[in-house]
Amino acid sequence: MKKSDKKNASSYCNYNDTFISYDQNRQPNGLRELLHIFKETRVPFEEQVVLEGGFGTGAYIDQIRHHMKKIYGVEGSEQGYEETQKKVGDAKNVHLQIGNILNLSFSDDFFHAYMVNQVLHHLDTEPSYPNLTLFLKESRRVIKPGGVLTINTSTQEQLNPNSGVYWNYKYIEKAAVAMQARYIPVPILLSRLGKLGFTNIKTTIPSGKLFQEQYYRNPKVAMDTDFQKADSIYCFLSAEEIVETNALIRSSIDDGSVYQHMVQAERQAEKIGEAVIVSARTPL
Ligand SMILES: C[S@@+](CC[C@H](N)C(=O)[O-])C[C@H]1O[C@@H](n2cnc3c(N)ncnc32)[C@H](O)[C@@H]1O
Repeated sequence: MKKSDKKNASSYCNYNDTFISYDQNRQPNGLRELLHIFKETRVPFEEQVVLEGGFGTGAYIDQIRHHMKKIYGVEGSEQGYEETQKKVGDAKNVHLQIGNILNLSFSDDFFHAYMVNQVLHHLDTEPSYPNLTLFLKESRRVIKPGGVLTINTSTQEQLNPNSGVYWNYKYIEKAAVAMQARYIPVPILLSRLGKLGFTNIKTTIPSGKLFQEQYYRNPKVAMDTDFQKADSIYCFLSAEEIVETNALIRSSIDDGSVYQHMVQAERQAEKIGEAVIVSARTPL
């Protein structure tokens, strides 16, 4: 089967292409903080049953599986499912399926913890984020009372093309603005969680980085086709626009201005983080 014929879930990008170079360019940030949040449920890890929604190439599952009794995963891309199967091999405590996180096949109160990492922005095309509400209701249904939901996402400030934390967004401003619209503003997310009866709602800035080290050191990386495939923001650009952004980056390498911008983005990341983990508990 061709990659383009495989199942895909994102509302704007074909992840079967994206995953070809995903692991060479991305890292699972916030692992330490996620484990800390799961620990706060006071259920010992060796008893915890965890779900990851939209697990991509399985970078989080492949780490967290070593701590937990069982980990389940639901992913909309067949390519992601296959990459993850390769990573986890025949691990007995990992259960993967291709599916849709808006309509889970699990019975009520099944999980102690449910995590999604950089997934929410794929769910909706409408500005009122209706699928997000479906996702939250479905999460509440499958999480046991006293369990926890973690949502690793990004804030509007982090995504800002001029003052945000991803230096290359300056050269793809149109796409960055389109991307910002896909991310629900965090205060609205917090309020929706509250309205749906979640408790202990809080935000944590995760440690670690989203991209591999070369992104922060070498601006030429952002002109690389494999790098561009590994960030769905490039799905908002036409082939001509990609040629234009590459030319912009090339000339800012020549005049040195890109390095100033990289330092500015790095300083901002130190202040506000590269992502945010929103967590919330289901009432006992
Ligand atoms: C940016 S990737 C993140 C992958 C992984 N969580 C990570 O952080 O490495 C977003 C993932 O969400 C998946 N996805 C998007 N919408 C989905 C849905 N409704 N159901 C299942 N998976 C979905 C995509 O296929 C993709 O793998």
